[in-house]
Amino acid sequence: MKATLVNRVHSTIDPADDHPYLNGAWTPMMEEWDAEELSVEGSLPLDLDGVYLRNSENPVHQPLGKYHPFDGDGVLHAIRFRDGKASYRNRFIRTQGFLAEQAAGRALWSGLAEMPSRSERPGWGAQGALKDSSSTDVVVHAGRALSSFYQCGALYQLDPQTLEQYGPADWNGSFPAEGVSAHAKVDTTTGELLFFNYSKQAPHMYCGVVDAAGKLIHYQPVPLPGPRLPHDMAYTRRFMILNDFPLFWDASLFSRGLHVARMHDLPSRFALVPRPGVGGDICWFEADPTYVLHFVNAWEEGDEVVLNGYRQRSPMPPPLAGAPRAYAMLMAYTDLHSLKPQLWRWRFNLRTGATREEPLDEGISEFGSFNHRNAMQPNRYVYSALGEPGMFLFNGLCKHDLRNKTRQDLSFGAGIFGSEAPFAPRKGSRADQAEDDGYLVTYITDMNRDRSECWVYAAQDPGAGPLAKVRLPARIPSGTHACWASSEELASH
Ligand SMILES: [Fe+2]
Repeated sequence: MKATLVNRVHSTIDPADDHPYLNGAWTPMMEEWDAEELSVEGSLPLDLDGVYLRNSENPVHQPLGKYHPFDGDGVLHAIRFRDGKASYRNRFIRTQGFLAEQAAGRALWSGLAEMPSRSERPGWGAQGALKDSSSTDVVVHAGRALSSFYQCGALYQLDPQTLEQYGPADWNGSFPAEGVSAHAKVDTTTGELLFFNYSKQAPHMYCGVVDAAGKLIHYQPVPLPGPRLPHDMAYTRRFMILNDFPLFWDASLFSRGLHVARMHDLPSRFALVPRPGVGGDICWFEADPTYVLHFVNAWEEGDEVVLNGYRQRSPMPPPLAGAPRAYAMLMAYTDLHSLKPQLWRWRFNLRTGATREEPLDEGISEFGSFNHRNAMQPNRYVYSALGEPGMFLFNGLCKHDLRNKTRQDLSFGAGIFGSEAPFAPRKGSRADQAEDDGYLVTYITDMNRDRSECWVYAAQDPGAGPLAKVRLPARIPSGTHACWASSEELASH
């Protein structure tokens, strides 16, 4: 491996801070690396051709008050596979907040778990007074990686391979003042970016569409009854699917500046918003109360719109038993075994207005991926992350076969934690012949050997273990959202 330490950022985190999300597999890294000719255990498939990008919440400064693991500064990790070889880079996303705190030499914003009044600078986003960390998600649109923040903010643009940075997207001056939430979607059939945002101010939510050339072509309100906490969206050929779940702010505390969410005695609601050129009004559908962090795929089937996602059986869990008291609530809300998400299906009938829903799997799983060549059409396979009990860490993967109603689980091993594992189609494969003809790619944080690797599995049999383990130049912290961009997508701009 040829590894170059490019930069080390100034950090003020107290090494003695015992916060569970500042230690162990969540210990942040302060180095930026370029590495080529990465050493490989096993062998990299010659037909794995593209880039795996992962964002991370990577705090740099000692927090102002209580720390929440979603507060950290965004760091993108990019590993490029081609001709059986791999190269890697990571970079802090040069957000306005990151640069301001580097200049100040300390934290200037309080986080999600702290009073906004402790922030020393105004913030942008659904919460107000939060730093726009751009640390939640990453997608590749119009040839650029776009990093995003779930509380709504800018979309920071980077080259998906070199991680050269181009600052926030402007969309020729039309970037919305309300910002953009994490989990914007790229429809690779049209080249469009579909997005939403949400805020404290009425109408509380908007959605929009950016075309393949990076021009905002659609922006419309999706009025909600009050401030809500939507996290993800889905789409079909004709609709964007947005949501209004009964987990949202406690109004009496909210008016005093305290951000505490609770379940209300209300149904779940889903909005079907016609995409540009389709015409018609927003259609709302009701469903059983729950909360959903992430959806997997959606499509149209006769009169119905079908939506797959992870329905939480316990959206408002009790404090995590056995956790340090100061962190017990925080840890419950970041523990999949407390929230109990399971793969679920909703069917919205456009003719009758009725909703039907059913479980697709009884087990706990989340952070799904699938072969995006099957986006907007029925897909057979879903690949989910499995959670380590008690911590927001992924300790394995699961392949769901929705046709045969079976699942195959694999564990990374004790003390080894992964990331969201997108499906990477095998170069030359055809999704209409074998939907699972490709690979699953994930970064690994190995606490036993104090190292990180990128593991590549054959999606047709992930239980057989990784085909390749690619060594990274340093141990990287646990992280969440990731994407795969194929060489065709990288070359098409
Ligand atoms: Fe998310």
